[in-house]
Amino acid sequence: MSEHRCTHCSRRGFVSRLVGAVTTVSVLRCLPAWAEGRKVAIPLEKVPQLKRVGNGVLLRGVKGHDILVIRTGKETLSALDPICTHKQCEVAYERGWGEIRCDCHGSVYSTGGVVEEGPAERDLATYPAYLDKKRIVIELPSETGDEPSS
Ligand code: FES
Repeated sequence: MSEHRCTHCSRRGFVSRLVGAVTTVSVLRCLPAWAEGRKVAIPLEKVPQLKRVGNGVLLRGVKGHDILVIRTGKETLSALDPICTHKQCEVAYERGWGEIRCDCHGSVYSTGGVVEEGPAERDLATYPAYLDKKRIVIELPSETGDEPSS
């Protein structure tokens, strides 16, 4: 197990901004997290938006991956590749609608990444993810080129 410690990022340096209905959080070098093999764990206290069921956060730079994480239930969450399977625009989680939308051509996905409206024909890729005590654990693809499952 290794723990990431950022020497040049203060708590104030932690970037969090609200973009539409989803919060984007840059975790690149600034979020304390540990990694063990392909798993990354992020303390829930560092992503307080995810303490509330129904909220979503776009985590940027999680070991080189951008991951859309949605708190789908008290004990559950969904972690998805935020790249639309139609023509690779970035999707956004719409909390009010409880769905993920792509503004480029109008595809709509469920919070689990399943296509609900096209033109996209394939579901969003997903990452295995779960809550472990007060941490979000996400299993990343191996560095040998595995893609998240879809
Ligand atoms: S790129 Fe998302 S709907 Fe076309």
